[in-house]
Amino acid sequence: MDLKNKTVVIIGGTSGIGLATAVEANERGAIVHAASRSKEKVEAKASEHPDINFFQQDIHDSLGLEKSFRALGEIDHVVAVATGANRKNAPFMEQSPEEFKEAFNKFWGYTNVARLSIPLIREGGSLTFVSGFPARKCNVGMSSISATGCAVEGLSRALALEVAPIRVNVVAPGIIDTEAFDRLGEGKSAALENMGKNIPIGRVGKPEEVGLAILHAMENPYMTGATIDIDGGILLP
Ligand SMILES: NC(=O)c1ccc[n+]([C@@H]2O[C@H](COP(=O)([O-])OP(=O)(O)OC[C@H]3O[C@@H](n4cnc5c(N)ncnc54)[C@H](OP(=O)(O)O)[C@@H]3O)[C@@H](O)[C@H]2O)c1
Repeated sequence: MDLKNKTVVIIGGTSGIGLATAVEANERGAIVHAASRSKEKVEAKASEHPDINFFQQDIHDSLGLEKSFRALGEIDHVVAVATGANRKNAPFMEQSPEEFKEAFNKFWGYTNVARLSIPLIREGGSLTFVSGFPARKCNVGMSSISATGCAVEGLSRALALEVAPIRVNVVAPGIIDTEAFDRLGEGKSAALENMGKNIPIGRVGKPEEVGLAILHAMENPYMTGATIDIDGGILLP
């Protein structure tokens, strides 16, 4: 099933993995709509990629999200990739309950996307969530993002049963060089290079390498309830 003339909606599509997916889907002939919160990012990406329809939308604003989905009419493929939370990397016992719960805002955003888009997805269509390697390989300080990732993966399998034949899958990235690491400032490249040394492939990943797996989840008509790990082998023992 190719993506030519298929309608693809990506929530969290102005940066990193979501943007790379939008660009690749557009190159394969899809009609791509990509959203995020920041007006600046939406405007900047719209001028860089005029063939993609970027729009402003917070994944937590369920009324706005419902309006945005309805305005698009029928949809073929939906991707929920927004980070949607300020996560604190710290051991569980060093986080307040509020800090721990904050990580789950990613999950609640994904439930909004699922609830509001599934009624609009055409036969043969799909919903893809993005989790992350900490769901199944957790270092100290990752308890909240690990638990959130597990929740995303569990929800996708449960939904895959309930909404079939609409397909629901997860793509779980390893460490990927995206704007998410811009907080490291000038040390970003060196830090990512260092992280790459502990990964079997020997480097961190590129957003488009994860995008390829998301496109596969859209295009493969027999894939549902699956989790695709794109992580350079980081999950290996
Ligand atoms: N990079 C990695 O190493 C890595 C590893 C494992 C898992 N992941 C997961 O992969 C996904 C994408 O990460 P990334 O590295 O590509 O991050 P990124 O480059 O920071 O992109 C995140 C995207 O989500 C949007 N976003 C954030 N909060 C949002 C909200 N409340 N509503 C709508 N859009 C929102 C951002 O735009 P705005 O700021 O404009 O909203 C941006 O477009 C995330 O779910 C992340 O947890 C990433």
